[in-house]
Amino acid sequence: MSRIGVLISGRGSNLQALIDAESRNDLAGEIVIVISNKSNAMGLERAAKADIATAVITKKSYPIREDYDIRVVEILKEHNVDLVVLAGYMRMFTDVFISEFKDRIINVHPSLLPAFKGVNAQWQAVDYGVGISGCTTHFVGLEMDAGPIIKQKTVNVFPDDTGETLAERILKEEHKLIVESVRLFCEGKLSIDSRKVIINN
Ligand code: GRF
Repeated sequence: MSRIGVLISGRGSNLQALIDAESRNDLAGEIVIVISNKSNAMGLERAAKADIATAVITKKSYPIREDYDIRVVEILKEHNVDLVVLAGYMRMFTDVFISEFKDRIINVHPSLLPAFKGVNAQWQAVDYGVGISGCTTHFVGLEMDAGPIIKQKTVNVFPDDTGETLAERILKEEHKLIVESVRLFCEGKLSIDSRKVIINN
């Protein structure tokens, strides 16, 4: 069974989707540690409630980016983590992290990548005037929101949408997509061929 470490920064609803999937035996993996860069992240309470170990690593205690990542890697290794899931983790990585977990980091992003990278993707989509947006799961490399795409799901954007209403609609799909993607990884069904992810069924 794959051992999963989840990194969060806030609310943790994607983390909750993973916790719920695990409790239904629908994840093919076990969440063994949740790490947050914010001490007040609501996701920490969700993890504690599910009896999952937690750690908080703040920028204040590790102001140098490499040192920060070294500490996170240490904790993930202490827990023998096979897969790292970024569930609303709002920090960039250094090579220290990426090289340690190459092809073993999955992120969920609230747009159809490569459109609307970075923060506030749902607001960017509304402001741009697109009729369709969605969400993407992908493997993580050094370049932000640019790694090989695992799965995508489209979501309609309506003329009266705000960033908030679109974010809410996309979030429901993120919860399904992250669970499906993590399950595929844990079942050993994902392989990467340069930019492309192949799903072996
Ligand atoms: C999600 O929309 C995720 O895609 C984005 O930040 C949000 C996190 O939500 N990166 P939550 O913390 O999982 O509830």
